[in-house]
Amino acid sequence: MREAGAIAKLALIECGKAVAPGVTTRELDEIARKVIKQCGATPSFLGYQGYPAAICCSINDTVIHGIPGKDKIREGDIVSIDVGAFYRGYHGDNADTFAAGIIAPEAQRLIDVTRQSFYEGIKQAVVGNRISDISKAIQTYVEANGFSVVRDFVGHGIGRQMHEAPEVPNYCGKPGRGPRLTKGMTLAVEPMVNQKAFGVKILKDGWTVKTVDGGLSAHYENTFVITDGEPIILTRPLED
Ligand code: MF3
Ligand code: CO
Repeated sequence: MREAGAIAKLALIECGKAVAPGVTTRELDEIARKVIKQCGATPSFLGYQGYPAAICCSINDTVIHGIPGKDKIREGDIVSIDVGAFYRGYHGDNADTFAAGIIAPEAQRLIDVTRQSFYEGIKQAVVGNRISDISKAIQTYVEANGFSVVRDFVGHGIGRQMHEAPEVPNYCGKPGRGPRLTKGMTLAVEPMVNQKAFGVKILKDGWTVKTVDGGLSAHYENTFVITDGEPIILTRPLED
């Protein structure tokens, strides 16, 4: 999973570097496919429940699952990229949100809060805590910063399958509930954070998820493993 994670991260980094005004989301998808193939892996998303691409590319008010296509990125856009790699029987899954050129300060703050909410969440990712401790930490941090957490999509266990039990919500229904975290558990935690209301809608293509109110949305995700000590992030370059 460390190797699958490194490949997923490499694909994410290369896509992120290519984000710029005038670039199409399909071009980013092609970059991801190339990187993943060169590493001897396959894209986790391609063909998953009929999904047609290697990445999800979600611009501005698109929350997740934006399908790559002819759309051009424009100056000031925020571009969420989600990519997974399958290598020697295991998956790595990660996402980040990138700025195209110069973006509004509020958009940058949304990106920063989304990323930091992940790290606030995994501070709670220690043996004996529960899934809901991660969820609560993410929600608390996001809401303290005036943003909202998407409820309709969640993080997940990951391993031989991209989506395994347990679900990892980014909001907390009932604290002190839900599965306990155990050593060796591998999770993909992925806060989706909206600038305004948390509500989302799915477009007629059956995939694209947008904010109901047109507010911006950002996404950040890593795959990690629970240990006796701090969790270890698996979606990072091998040399780190
Ligand atoms: N990171 C997302 C997830 O964990 C990506 C899935 S997109 C799909 O669910 F197309 F593969 F479904
Ligand atoms: Co995921």
